[in-house]
Amino acid sequence: MSSASQGSQLFSPLDLRMVRLRNRVVVSPMQQYMAEEDGRPQAFHVQHYGRLGIGGAGLVFTEALIVAPEGRVTRHDLGIWSDDMVETLKPIVEAISAHGATPGTQLLHAGRKGSVSRPWEGYSPLITAGTADAPWQTVAASALPANPGWHVPEALDEDGIARAIEAHAMGARRAARAGFRVLDIHAAHGYLIHSFLSPLANKRTDRWGGDFEGRIAFLIAVSTAVRAEWPADLPLFVRLSCIDDQPDGWTLEQSVELARRLAAVGVDVIDCSSGGLGERTTTKQVRRPEGYQVPFAERIRKDADIPTMAVGLITTPAFAESVIAEGRADLVAIGREALMNPHWPLMAARTLGHDTDFRGWPPSWGWWLDKRARAAASSTQSST
Ligand SMILES: Cc1cc2nc3c(=O)[nH]c(=O)nc-3n(C[C@H](O)[C@H](O)[C@H](O)COP(=O)(O)O)c2cc1C
Repeated sequence: MSSASQGSQLFSPLDLRMVRLRNRVVVSPMQQYMAEEDGRPQAFHVQHYGRLGIGGAGLVFTEALIVAPEGRVTRHDLGIWSDDMVETLKPIVEAISAHGATPGTQLLHAGRKGSVSRPWEGYSPLITAGTADAPWQTVAASALPANPGWHVPEALDEDGIARAIEAHAMGARRAARAGFRVLDIHAAHGYLIHSFLSPLANKRTDRWGGDFEGRIAFLIAVSTAVRAEWPADLPLFVRLSCIDDQPDGWTLEQSVELARRLAAVGVDVIDCSSGGLGERTTTKQVRRPEGYQVPFAERIRKDADIPTMAVGLITTPAFAESVIAEGRADLVAIGREALMNPHWPLMAARTLGHDTDFRGWPPSWGWWLDKRARAAASSTQSST
C-alpha cells in the first residue's frame, strides 16, 4: 500500500461481525434474468460474477435469489428455493472470492410484482395460459395489483405468511451452505415484504396490517427467522425503500424507527434504496441527481445509530469517497456503472491515489498498466 493510500476512506476496511470487507465499495444486487427456467445458473453467471470479483470491490452481491417459485419476478430468475440449488451456486461464490472480494447475496420474494416478462421482453404480465409463458398466481399483503392491468395477487392467509417466512429462513440456510458471507433481505422496490410495509399496498385489518406495528410485523418476523438460520458470525443487511415517494406512502421517519427495530433483532446494516411501489417507474425512466438516496443512508445512520449502505447514481470516485469520508454512510454500492465497467473499484482506487502502482490489479494486468503509466509520464516529461 502506498503512502497516498492512507487518505482514502473509501478504501479502508470495514469489519462487520467476523467478516472484514477489504474496502467500502460494494457491487449492488442486480437481477440478470438469465437463469435456466428451473432457476439454476448458466455459465454466464459464473463469468459475470467472476468479472465483478476481479474488479476490486470489497463486497460483491449476486443478484437477488428467489426464495419460492411463486416469488419469481420472471421465469428466468436465479433461485434458492430448494436444497439441491446450493451446489449450483457454489461456483458463483468461488468466482467472486477468487480475487479477494467477499461474496454476498440477497433473498427475494417478488410478491405481486411477479409473473412478468423480462425487461427486454416488455416487463409486462405473463398472459398466455397453457404455453411455456403461462402466468402463475402471485401473492401479496392485500389483493391489489402492482400496476393497472397487472395480475391481482392473492392476499396471503396465516398459513401463507408462515410459509413465506419459512422460505426466507430456508433461503438463508442455503445461502450459508453455498458459502456466501453477507446476506441482504430484499424488503424494497414494491416486492412482497415492501407490500406489507407500505400503507399503499397493505390494507389488512389483522395483526399483519393496520398501523405501523402491524405493517412491520412481517419484515420483523422474516428478519428474526433469517437471523436464526444465518450464522451468528456473518452480517445481515436489509434493503429498504426508505420512502415510497408517493402521497400517503411510507416515510423516512418510519424507516428510521424500523431500522431501530431491525437492529434489535440482529440486522447489521440498512441498505438504503427507495420507491418501486405506487406507480410504474424504473430507475431509467426518472432523472435523478447524483447520490439521490444518500440522504436516506445518512439520516438512518445518524438517527437509528446503525451502519448504512448508500446506493443510487454513485458514479464517480470523488463522490463515493466523500460519502464515506463525510460519514454519510458506511458502504457505497455501485449498480449500473459496475455492469458497464466491472473494474470500477480498481479504477476508483487509482483515481483516488490509493493504488498508485496498480498493485490491486491481477499482476499480469497491473504490470503492463504500470509500464504504460510510466511510459506516459516519461513522454510528458520529455515533451515539456
Ligand atoms: C439490471 C438491474 C437489476 C437490478 N436488480 C436488483 C436486485 O436484484 N435487487 C435489488 O435490490 N436491486 C436491484 N436493482 C437495483 C440496483 O441494485 C441499484 O439499487 C439501482 O440500480 C441504483 O443504483 P445505480 O444507480 O448505481 O445503478 C437492479 C438494477 C438494475 C439496473
